[in-house]
Amino acid sequence: MQRYKNVFSETQACKISDMLLLLSLVFLSLAGTALADIYNNVDELPRNLTFDFIVIGGGTAGNVVANRLTENPSFSVLVLEAGPSPEGQLNHTVPFFSIFLREQSPLDWNYTTVPQVGLDGSALQYPRGRILGGCSSMNRLAYVRGSSEDYDRYANVTGDNGWSWNEIQPYIRKNERWTSPTDNHNTSGQFNPAVHGFHGINSVSLAGFPSPTVQDRVIQVTEELSDEFPFNLDYNSGFQLGVGWAQSTIKHGKRSSSFTSYLGPEFVGRQNLHILLNAQVTRLLQTNSDPTEFLTVEFAENKDAPRQRVTATKEVIISTGSVGTPTLLLNSGIGDPNQLSRFGIKTLINIPDVGKNLSNQPMLTLSYFVNSTNTFDDIIRNLTLRSELIRQWIETDGDGPLGIGPYGTHQVFTRLSKNSTALETNPDPAAGPNTAHIQSGIQNGDISPPPEGHFMTISLSLNTPTSRGSIQLNTTDAFDQPLIDLGLLTTDFDVLALKEGIGIAQRFVGARAWDGYVLGPLSNITASSTDAELEAFIRANTSPNGHIVSTASMSPKGAQHGVVDPDLRVKGIARLRVVDASILPFVPSANTQFAVYMVGERGADLIKAAW
Ligand SMILES: Cc1cc2nc3c(=O)[nH]c(=O)nc-3n(C[C@H](O)[C@H](O)[C@H](O)COP(=O)(O)OP(=O)(O)OC[C@H]3O[C@@H](n4cnc5c(N)ncnc54)[C@H](O)[C@@H]3O)c2cc1C
Ligand SMILES: *[C@@H]1O[C@H](CO)[C@@H](O)[C@H](O)[C@H]1NC(C)=O
Ligand SMILES: *[C@@H]1O[C@H](CO)[C@@H](O)[C@H](O)[C@H]1NC(C)=O
Ligand SMILES: *[C@@H]1O[C@H](CO)[C@@H](O)[C@H](O)[C@H]1NC(C)=O
Ligand SMILES: *[C@@H]1O[C@H](CO)[C@@H](O)[C@H](O)[C@H]1NC(C)=O
Ligand SMILES: *[C@@H]1O[C@H](CO)[C@@H](O)[C@H](O)[C@H]1NC(C)=O
Ligand SMILES: *[C@@H]1O[C@H](CO)[C@@H](O)[C@H](O)[C@H]1NC(C)=O
Ligand SMILES: *[C@@H]1O[C@H](CO)[C@@H](O)[C@H](O)[C@H]1NC(C)=O
Ligand SMILES: *[C@@H]1O[C@H](CO)[C@@H](O)[C@H](O)[C@H]1NC(C)=O
Ligand SMILES: *[C@@H]1O[C@H](CO)[C@@H](O)[C@H](O)[C@H]1NC(C)=O
Ligand SMILES: *[C@@H]1O[C@H](CO)[C@@H](O)[C@H](O)[C@H]1NC(C)=O
Ligand SMILES: *[C@@H]1O[C@H](CO)[C@@H](O)[C@H](O)[C@H]1NC(C)=O
Repeated sequence: MQRYKNVFSETQACKISDMLLLLSLVFLSLAGTALADIYNNVDELPRNLTFDFIVIGGGTAGNVVANRLTENPSFSVLVLEAGPSPEGQLNHTVPFFSIFLREQSPLDWNYTTVPQVGLDGSALQYPRGRILGGCSSMNRLAYVRGSSEDYDRYANVTGDNGWSWNEIQPYIRKNERWTSPTDNHNTSGQFNPAVHGFHGINSVSLAGFPSPTVQDRVIQVTEELSDEFPFNLDYNSGFQLGVGWAQSTIKHGKRSSSFTSYLGPEFVGRQNLHILLNAQVTRLLQTNSDPTEFLTVEFAENKDAPRQRVTATKEVIISTGSVGTPTLLLNSGIGDPNQLSRFGIKTLINIPDVGKNLSNQPMLTLSYFVNSTNTFDDIIRNLTLRSELIRQWIETDGDGPLGIGPYGTHQVFTRLSKNSTALETNPDPAAGPNTAHIQSGIQNGDISPPPEGHFMTISLSLNTPTSRGSIQLNTTDAFDQPLIDLGLLTTDFDVLALKEGIGIAQRFVGARAWDGYVLGPLSNITASSTDAELEAFIRANTSPNGHIVSTASMSPKGAQHGVVDPDLRVKGIARLRVVDASILPFVPSANTQFAVYMVGERGADLIKAAW
């Protein structure tokens, strides 16, 4: 995510008529899949239904759970989702336009963080999808699993081997449907088919449109600087280090989300699957007879609408994501008594770690002027060009440069050197010796380009941050935002590691392969910048990845710390689970949607096994 500069200025207005013409085309192209059993408001929900399971949040993981539970025709499931459907939304369908889904919008939670002490006190916008499919309906589509060591560490710290790399393999296969790229280019030598699933539900593909000026030079770098940047046929094999071709959740030039896949036409018509949109859950209520059961769910369409109630007969599953989940637990009296008492909320279940220990990756983008006009910068700046490409995308059903994610032809996974100050003065926070500290996406353009110039951008993510933040209540109204403290760059390690990351990027673009192509940096950061200049640059320009985890973390059964057991049951509560990103005790060395899909698949299996 960038720090959101508004790149759409006056040029926008004069092209409205063009856009209207296009919009009618867009409507024709996106309309079609009829929605059965998706209700837009509570009055449409038949009153005589009963539900075995209530899934709160129709997001990335929630839709996986709803799909898998309703494979059993004797289970009935209700999904309660705060937002509407993305059906027919152009910007949520065209992969390149994911760059537009970062602003305040009726389809977003519009979060703002508290001032970040590590970022010179800036309060940042923090977009999250408030829409069916959740963040999978608006994320950047990168499909990155992390290292096998990331998952083996989950097994280790939870005492449940079911979270290890070997044991999650069936869930990878259930989730993934490897798909040919839109342009049907020969993909031999660009991925390893042996490590992918071809019969799952959610589509994954290589880029369906080439960026030759950049991608060919990246391959040259892997030959020229093979010690630091070796070619890796497939960074999703469990061994991630090196440079590999980017894989994305894209199906023929269109976003593949948990909405388009797990709620696809073949599933959404199931008689036992019910989805209520525009239903924001405000709290869970104890079920009369048993104080450790929270099977009644209270919800409302908006702040002023009447509160409704619905009760599950078997289990409630919380899938409201790393911000929503701790907020909902706290509003329900499940959390740290010291915090709850400040709001006059009675603590019903004492779990001090709810909302604590938030982890997220800081990200820094470095742009370089290039000697080419064949970049994506003009798609963002030139509305005529953009309109032409929308037309092409519609007429060819997904072809062209809009059918790929803007975020990289390749991903580079690098470790800090052993003698770096970061590792000499701190324990290594990576899950193991083959886990990357730094992930760099190589982009054929700048997603917020200045008015002039063409760029190549390296987006550096510190995948192994040691800073931790928190989610706390701000008021007792469930429709108010919580306090989101990402805690970015609050440890020395994180700042030192990003300094190293800048060095990695400088060595990458310093390869001879870029001679005559990379002209120079857009920023004034160079190889001779001082430590103080680097630190000032890092603190002024770092932005958060959308990869928050750990706010309702797993820990071993019986442990005093953590929020859920390894079977995802909330500690001390009988029939309540959390199935979403919040349960991951560490952020993987990756973007997080893969891990969340996996958690959804295994979570659903654990629930099925219990019933
Ligand atoms: C801007 C951005 C870019 C990203 N890019 C990538 C990427 O390129 N690759 C990648 O792998 N990952 C990416 N991620 C991360 C990834 O998308 C998330 O980790 C993942 O989707 C989270 O899934 P989840 O199920 O935990 O939560 P979500 O998908 O957010 O689902 C939570 C759902 O619950 C709903 N909800 C919340 N509260 C309530 C309530 N009280 N009542 C009812 N419903 C509620 C929400 O509306 C939402 O639909 C990105 C994230 C963001 C924000
Ligand atoms: C609920 O009522 C509707 C009519 O209002 C009926 O069609 C449906 O079969 C009923 N469902 C159940 C589960 O009783
Ligand atoms: C997509 O986003 C762009 C940029 O914010 C905006 O101008 C356009 O109206 C959006 N399109 C739709 C169909 O919402
Ligand atoms: C987010 O902001 C938009 C205005 O841009 C508004 O319509 C919407 O209601 C807001 N959403 C929330 C959850 O506050
Ligand atoms: C976790 O890893 C540590 C260090 O390798 C090891 O000593 C410990 O036994 C492991 N614990 C479990 C539960 O696997
Ligand atoms: C694809 O490329 C590989 C290696 O470059 C080659 O062996 C193979 O024949 C090609 N496949 C097709 C269908 O052209
Ligand atoms: C936060 O996570 C770390 C690593 O798992 C753990 O050591 C620590 O106890 C956790 N702290 C809290 C408050 O949960
Ligand atoms: C914008 O794109 C159109 C169509 O490709 C092109 O004709 C025009 O010259 C471009 N404008 C600028 C300022 O580059
Ligand atoms: C680390 O070692 C490499 C050689 O392996 C050397 O080039 C580099 O300068 C050293 N870095 C530091 C910080 O000492
Ligand atoms: C927290 O609530 C106060 C009012 O009680 C409000 O002024 C402030 O903006 C809120 N903070 C956030 C981050 O919403
Ligand atoms: C830009 O590329 C052209 C060839 O495409 C080359 O002739 C020229 O020297 C390059 N310019 C610079 C400043 O490297
Ligand atoms: C780099 O530019 C920033 C403003 O963009 C300025 O504050 C800083 O002093 C400059 N640093 C150097 C080393 O020139």
